[in-house]
Amino acid sequence: METTPRASTKIVPAAWDCGTRRNFIERVSRGVSSLVACGACGLLQGCTVPVRTFRARPSRVVEVPASRYPELDHRGGMIKVLVGRGGAFIRSEGDGNYTAFSAVCTHQGCLVDAGRDSFNCPCHGSVYDREGKNIAGPAPRPLARLRAQREGEVLKLFLQDG
Ligand code: FES
Repeated sequence: METTPRASTKIVPAAWDCGTRRNFIERVSRGVSSLVACGACGLLQGCTVPVRTFRARPSRVVEVPASRYPELDHRGGMIKVLVGRGGAFIRSEGDGNYTAFSAVCTHQGCLVDAGRDSFNCPCHGSVYDREGKNIAGPAPRPLARLRAQREGEVLKLFLQDG
């Protein structure tokens, strides 16, 4: 007696079997698309990186408890400081010096996100380089530079000098 395979029986190709030429081309193009997406992310610097956040009460000088942020002890380590509706990034330069930028986009005031080597505005796509210079999108000016200075276990962020 002859048996017929049930309708749900599938022939699953081995992992190395690319099936038809059309399937092969589709798979290759999907792989290339993924690579292009990853590459574009790196080139356009549009990906965000996780940065820990310190929330501060509104003040002209914010005091960040530096011992709670050991990333600030290493060159390139960065935190985000949120103050009211505004914010800033503080980056360690690794020699006891810090660079600080306002996180407020100079286009229409959205808060920018930190990328690997950039700051990126999620609202209209402005991109700033790691020094805060506007390099893409509608932002008309660089991010405002702020002063940050370590005093023992406190890292002071000066939102307004004077
Ligand atoms: S508010 Fe940042 S690009 Fe428009």
